[in-house]
Amino acid sequence: MAVVKKIVVIGTGYVGLPLAVMLARSGYEVIGVDIEEGVVESINRGVLHIAEEEIARIFQEDEVKKNLHAQNSPCPADVFIISVPTPLDQKKRIADISQVISAVESISPHLRPGNLVIIESTVPPLTCRATIAPLIEKSGLKVSQNLFLCHCPERILPGDVFFEIVHNDRIIGGLDEKASQMAKEIYASFVKGRFYLTDDVTAELVKLMENTYRDVNIALANEFAAVAEGLGVDIMQAIELANKHPRVDILSPGIGTGGHCIPVDPWFIKQVDPVNSRLIQTARLINDEVPYKIAAKIRRALRDIKEPRIVVLGVTYKPDTYDVRNSPAIRIIELLRDDGYQVEAYDPLAEGYHYSSIKDLAKGADCLVALVEHQIIKKELEENMAEIKKVMRHPLILRFYHKVDEGKRGAEPDSGLV
Ligand SMILES: NC(=O)c1ccc[n+]([C@@H]2O[C@H](COP(=O)([O-])OP(=O)(O)OC[C@H]3O[C@@H](n4cnc5c(N)ncnc54)[C@H](O)[C@@H]3O)[C@@H](O)[C@H]2O)c1
Repeated sequence: MAVVKKIVVIGTGYVGLPLAVMLARSGYEVIGVDIEEGVVESINRGVLHIAEEEIARIFQEDEVKKNLHAQNSPCPADVFIISVPTPLDQKKRIADISQVISAVESISPHLRPGNLVIIESTVPPLTCRATIAPLIEKSGLKVSQNLFLCHCPERILPGDVFFEIVHNDRIIGGLDEKASQMAKEIYASFVKGRFYLTDDVTAELVKLMENTYRDVNIALANEFAAVAEGLGVDIMQAIELANKHPRVDILSPGIGTGGHCIPVDPWFIKQVDPVNSRLIQTARLINDEVPYKIAAKIRRALRDIKEPRIVVLGVTYKPDTYDVRNSPAIRIIELLRDDGYQVEAYDPLAEGYHYSSIKDLAKGADCLVALVEHQIIKKELEENMAEIKKVMRHPLILRFYHKVDEGKRGAEPDSGLV
């Protein structure tokens, strides 16, 4: 196997940039390619544009500075890693892989015999062999003969990327054994987790199964919450008691699921097999409906207050993250504003939503809605509840989130509340 020296990472966002940094630290010459001029510029200025403290520290190491450079178009290399977005086409509810296709087309003129192409982007099953392989073969090279293709899905948790990128186990799905071995060698330069080598379709499906498992189990908790509410049962107590069973582990109900993966990836399974994914589709619909139910609860709580001023705390997609992508909290805020409510939204972690103190925000408010309780919000609410209520016009505080399981390290905490 030829020695790999140079790696091009296409798409330097939440996934691609930490990967590029770790590869550069391992001694590879790394070119980060991004179509966003601002991203390229900030990388070359030595400024990390994603909020990951430990990665930012490593980014400043001499070896990384020496080995990592960014540019807006690809160049020849030994390995190409694609980590561009694969959002959901909201109308058709299928994967929009157009950015992966553009990225593959952009590397095509630079491909040489012996190159390895790794797809890190989350894609529907069969994408690598049915779409990517024919596309890269337009270069004249033949996959599994003189060019190698592999799907290596990413599992990192935003906010804890350094720990997870190093310690998580990796699934490596090559179109052939050589592709898997080549990819493993690259990741083994910094990954301390175990490697599991398989084929591309299995790797594609495994990634989707992981997030679908979370989505379906959160939907079950949300459904239990609705049933309990109808019966006048305290759902948190009921879950706590059910979880005393040695083989039961019910997650927390919530305000809906959010983020870049959980509300998106289950649809990629439905896309390839709608007949056998009825539970998956139902879970998706249940979780998408939750923000509407929460908004209705808030409206009900406010029905006797004329033109209420609502202050929302927490806008991220789950507690203790800065990430607002697909946030159900933002959906709830939009729903209330669409209904004509005056809603102010604050979050100590999300950019653009910061505040000085909850007590200041609460002055003259009619309702404080804690949608996403970061530790810092929880602490301030618990310590200053009496004072906060004192400065409000109506001392109405709605708290939904109450976490049941702390989850094992690496488990995505439930993005929910009751
Ligand atoms: N964010 C996560 O924690 C996470 C975890 C697991 C998997 N994923 C998957 O990884 C993939 C990337 O996600 P992300 O969160 O890093 O996205 P992102 O939006 O943070 O970053 C993607 C970057 O790719 C760039 N880009 C788009 N098209 C390009 C092209 N043709 N050439 C060069 N650059 C291009 C964008 O400008 C952007 O900077 C997605 O498929 C996502 O589902 C993400």
